[in-house]
Formats: sequence, structure tokens, C-alpha cells
Amino acid sequence: MTSDHDLDLSRIDPDRVPRHIGLILDGNGRWANRRGLPRTAGHLAGEEALFDTIEGGLALGVEWMTAFTFSTENWDRSGEEVEFLMWFNEDLLTRRRDELHAQGIRMAFSGAFEDPRVPERNRRHMAEAADLTADNTAMTVVFAFNYGSRHELVRAARLLAEDAVAGRIDPDQIDEESMEARFWLPDMPDVDLVIRSSGEHRLSNFLLWQSAYAEFSFPGILWPDFDRHALVEAVVDYQQRERRFGGAVDAVDDREGEPTS
Ligand code: IPE
Ligand code: MG
Repeated sequence: MTSDHDLDLSRIDPDRVPRHIGLILDGNGRWANRRGLPRTAGHLAGEEALFDTIEGGLALGVEWMTAFTFSTENWDRSGEEVEFLMWFNEDLLTRRRDELHAQGIRMAFSGAFEDPRVPERNRRHMAEAADLTADNTAMTVVFAFNYGSRHELVRAARLLAEDAVAGRIDPDQIDEESMEARFWLPDMPDVDLVIRSSGEHRLSNFLLWQSAYAEFSFPGILWPDFDRHALVEAVVDYQQRERRFGGAVDAVDDREGEPTS
């Protein structure tokens, strides 16, 4: 693994680093195909990319990074690939857990873990990693595993309905906060920047609510080739954008470049 000193942060404004970056890891299969390798070889190669990118996030001072490691739609892949991804997600946790812990990283998990298709050992190792790293403060890394945003939203709606029927909440009082309080990770902040590697321009049911005002980056890099340097490029580009959150264009910006008289 490369070390921090080769990372060029000179173009980064430390006051405008995205607080939460979402990573849609895409292109592992194509990376492998191009080398005449099985798709699983692409997933294996994606591990180094993920952990190098996490180190880049740490060096940048990013507070939250959420990596989409398995979606609720990924069950439609071949049985062999699904089985591999279940094993790999679990194996990766056990091998990398102590290293992340030593870096002060809190590991968190978001997804439908009660799904009977999720193996018990995955559930157990996710819980152990979350417990071990619960008090770490350097950065939170979320593994979005068996994650689907619509599933998360429907679940929150169901929990609200149950609370309303039981008289614990007045339907008139339901607001954004009461929805968010019923998400898988209630303390997850909004996403500032979503990066999807491989050049595909889709959100694919990833953090739909949390990305309402996110900026998007679609580097044409297959995930196994992504790294901390590619992350810095995405953040440099992000910092050149003007975020308005639905507000008006700043009047001062409007006059920029125009004659003053
Ligand atoms: C992403 O790469 C890996 C996972 C979501 C598990 P893909 O497996 O989607 O690779 P492509 O898109 O087929 O190249
Ligand atoms: Mg893909």
C-alpha cells in the first residue's frame, strides 16, 4: 500500500471537504473481463482500491464514507457470484477490521440484515466489527451491504405506521427527522458527494433520500483502478462546483465579469 506523503493535497481547500462521500463501486466485472479473468477476480482486485480510497478519505478529513458493497438487486446475479460476494464481504471484514480499528475508524453497516438470504456468519462479523470500533472518531466507514434505498424508505414508513397505529406518534407530527430516525443508520448525515466509478451515470437505489442535494462524480475508471489519487481528483472537482441547495443564484456571482458601471 502507498503512504500518505505521495498524496497531493495542495489543490484541496481544507474548509470545503465533503463531509460524507458515497462510493458506488462499479466496474469490477469489466475490469476482469478485459483481462480474460472471471468476474470474481475483479471483486478481489477491488479490495485494494477500496482500502486505498478509505485512506485517502482519512487524509482528506472526510467524516463519513459509505461504500455500496452489495445491493438488494445483486441477488439476481449467478448463484456462484452471489455466494462469492457473501463470502468476500465477510472475509474482508475479518481481515481488515483490526487495521481499520487501529486507524481510528468506526465501522458501520447499513442494509437488510434480517433477510434470510444473508448468512448468519456475515451478520455476526458485522455486529462484531461495529461493536469493536463503535467509539472510534477518525472517520465512519459504512458498508452498505444488502442495501437498497427504497427498502430503507419503505421500512421507515412501516415503522412510522406502526407507531401511529399504536398511538406513539401523531401522523400530523411526522416530518423528515422522524423518517430519518427510522433509517438503518439514523445518525448518517446527508451525502455531499456521490462517486460512481466505471462511467455509468446511475444511482441504482443507493442513498436516494440522503443524496437529495449531493454532487455527483462519474469518473471513467473501473473500480479496481480507483484509488486515493482518483478520490482527490473527484474532491477537487467537487470544490469547484457551487452548491445552492435549491436557493437562488447569489446576486454577487450574477454580476461577476460584468462591467461595473
Ligand atoms: C461492482 O462491480 C461490484 C459490486 C457491486 C459487487 P460490478 O460487478 O458491477 O462490475 P461490472 O459493472 O459488471 O463491470
Ligand atoms: Mg456494475
